[in-house]
Amino acid sequence: MKAVIARDFAPLDQLDYADWPEPDVEAGQVLIEAEAIGVNYPDGLLVQGLYQARPQTPFIPGMEVAGRIIAVGQGVEGFKPGDRAVALGPYGTYAEKVAVPSKAAMKLSEDMPAAHACALMCGYGTSHYALKQRARLQPGDTLCVLGASGLTGLAALQIGKAMGARVVGVASSPEKQRIALDAGADHVCGYDNLRENLKAATDGKGVDVAFDPVGGATFDALSRSMAWNGRLLVIGFASGEIPKFPVNLALVKGFSLVGVFWGAFTEKEPDVYADNMSELIGWYGAGKIKPVIEGEYPLSDAASVLKRMLGRGTAGKLILKP
Ligand SMILES: NC(=O)c1ccc[n+]([C@@H]2O[C@H](COP(=O)([O-])OP(=O)(O)OC[C@H]3O[C@@H](n4cnc5c(N)ncnc54)[C@H](OP(=O)(O)O)[C@@H]3O)[C@@H](O)[C@H]2O)c1
Repeated sequence: MKAVIARDFAPLDQLDYADWPEPDVEAGQVLIEAEAIGVNYPDGLLVQGLYQARPQTPFIPGMEVAGRIIAVGQGVEGFKPGDRAVALGPYGTYAEKVAVPSKAAMKLSEDMPAAHACALMCGYGTSHYALKQRARLQPGDTLCVLGASGLTGLAALQIGKAMGARVVGVASSPEKQRIALDAGADHVCGYDNLRENLKAATDGKGVDVAFDPVGGATFDALSRSMAWNGRLLVIGFASGEIPKFPVNLALVKGFSLVGVFWGAFTEKEPDVYADNMSELIGWYGAGKIKPVIEGEYPLSDAASVLKRMLGRGTAGKLILKP
């Protein structure tokens, strides 16, 4: 089969699209023939050796796959060949066929687009966990979302609306701000004068919950814009810079800095993760959330797609097709 291979931790250009042995389906696993493979920002960090995890090389990157089950291993219950499923792995999905533990897979209805199923995993999964369990977002809260046209940002914006918040989206260009407005933001602004803009948007009160997948220089303005009892969510550092934080600000302004690590959550709290996914699928079915799919690209284009994503050139969810 064809797959995308990281032969070493190296720049994205060095990802190889080549033949790779088809995986055997082992006990407890299901083998999925991919219809859609989700692209995520951490995939691009992982292959460069810039992520928390460092798998043994060579390896196949990618954490999401949706498609049809073509074989099941010994002892697997609840799945049979012919079922559609979406699955999450730490890596290994940028391939035509993917073997995953059956407990990492969820059944998909025949009418759910494979691309949407992938989007609901890491993108929506992260934002949902962040807002629900980590920030305990309440109806009527003001939620500020940075990187609001990005994958986790758009998901946070839509989930914030579904949970009854008033959402301010922050994005770098009028085009990206338009995408955030079209996805349901109540108000949008740019990064310049962020503190003044957030003050005006909240009648001077500050934001109750801030969702920050960007980090860098903007973090300072964001941390000075928090309301009393606010929750500032540390999601990621798309700017490439991990900000420093004067902790006295949290004391004086009475807000909490809250870390979010969705991958670890799925492993440490599998039952809560399963409940969260059920809620997301329910909201999807009810039309409360709708993934924005930027485009579907050939699997062989993985390197250029990742390069564009890490270079601030994408919006919403990107999908690879075998
Ligand atoms: N904590 C977790 O569990 C978890 C889970 C998934 C992802 N993440 C992390 O969250 C971050 C964002 O992921 P994502 O999926 O939302 O990515 P994305 O779709 O690429 O969105 C990131 C956004 O960051 C903004 N940005 C600002 N400066 C940037 C720069 N120098 N380069 C690239 N983007 C820049 C961009 O919007 P503007 O141009 O409008 O600024 C972009 O839309 C990544 O660091 C990722 O590793 C964390």
